[in-house]
Amino acid sequence: MKLWSKGFEPDKMIEQFTVGADRELDMRLARYDVEGSMAHIRMLESIGLLGSDELPVLLDALKDIAAMIERGEFEIGEGIEDVHSQVEFLLTERLGDLGKKIHSGRSRNDQVLVDLKLFMRDELAKTAHAVRSLFDLLLDLSEKHKKDLMPGYTHLQVAMPSSFGLWFGAYAESLADDMQMLIAAYRIANQNPLGSAAGYGSSFPLDREMTTRLLGFDDLHYNVVAAQMSRGKTERAAAAAISAVASTIGRLAMDVCMWMCQNFGFVSFPDELTTGSSIMPHKKNPDVFEIMRGKCNRLQSVPNELALLTANLPLGYNRDLQLMKDIIFPATTELRSCLEMCEFMLHHIRIRENILDDERYDYLFTVEDVNRLVLQGVPFRDAYKQVGMAVQEKRYKPTREINHTHLGSIGNLATGRIRAKMEGLMSVFPD
Ligand code: ARG
Repeated sequence: MKLWSKGFEPDKMIEQFTVGADRELDMRLARYDVEGSMAHIRMLESIGLLGSDELPVLLDALKDIAAMIERGEFEIGEGIEDVHSQVEFLLTERLGDLGKKIHSGRSRNDQVLVDLKLFMRDELAKTAHAVRSLFDLLLDLSEKHKKDLMPGYTHLQVAMPSSFGLWFGAYAESLADDMQMLIAAYRIANQNPLGSAAGYGSSFPLDREMTTRLLGFDDLHYNVVAAQMSRGKTERAAAAAISAVASTIGRLAMDVCMWMCQNFGFVSFPDELTTGSSIMPHKKNPDVFEIMRGKCNRLQSVPNELALLTANLPLGYNRDLQLMKDIIFPATTELRSCLEMCEFMLHHIRIRENILDDERYDYLFTVEDVNRLVLQGVPFRDAYKQVGMAVQEKRYKPTREINHTHLGSIGNLATGRIRAKMEGLMSVFPD
């Protein structure tokens, strides 16, 4: 049974090909579809397209469906195209002609749009909270390990003293930048497309401001064509944010893999958080961080996939748009699983102390020693030469004194400022 059925049923192959994974994917939209329908019918009643006696009956039936969804009993039946059809089918099955009235003044095109906006808004808020939670742990670790020094590298060559405090804090602050991207995506998602119908509005006097209020959107997409164009744009903005977070986490995962390597041996994890080899009995591998790195790298292809899928689509609805769900839905889940796993692992991270005592790191202190000479009145270039010659002639002995005091350095991590930055950003999202 199709909503658009006109006396013939489409070929089975055509149906399978066009419906694709929708029955499964749309399950994630079900609760939002009901929410959108409730707002729509309240509005229809307010403009006289539904009777005041009809509205409560429809609302009750929709509440029942919402409860079914909540209990995990909602299904999209064989032969039903998508979640929108299933909800209307259930209403008509229960209420007869009354169920058939709810689709006045809308189309599945704005219905799926509003579902997606509500879905993305929630997903982005959940992702923001997951990012925040990891951020908090990173800052706590940064404070806890502010005295634990480690080598800093440039070109992967020993460069200058760094610390675990600086390292953890760097990823925390980097997540604050990613949060800006999440906020931008959230703001784009938080606009009401409902009332754009098939993409060109309706001759009914729809009260679009009312549905905007009812659905808690910040604003609406006024122009109905712009509303339809936001399908794709919303997903691309979300994908850009997902990709930004993924790039941060993927990089962190790479650092951990490298530092778990015996040649570094800077960090380790309890045995049960490592994985073994079928042939080498000694192995304790960092598979978790490798999978995380791989997943995060893949997630960075999502903006590209969406851009290619939607490149040069003609204005108005095109069925290609359906395929975006295949790409963006798993991406949201995948990113959160990486965030949660990263947080779980970092709760158990063990840091090696006194790493810099090893003489292979002696050269980390050359700049410290140059600067000490500068403070004693030697011009920088002469001091540089003096220390450089000592290194060259193999007589350099580091003083191992470190005195970094400026904002954001190993001696002054500015944790409070970084925390405040994130707190300010988080105020955009509901708790
Ligand atoms: N499954 C469709 C989608 O995601 C729903 C909208 C169908 N609209 C249509 N005109 N065929 O895009």
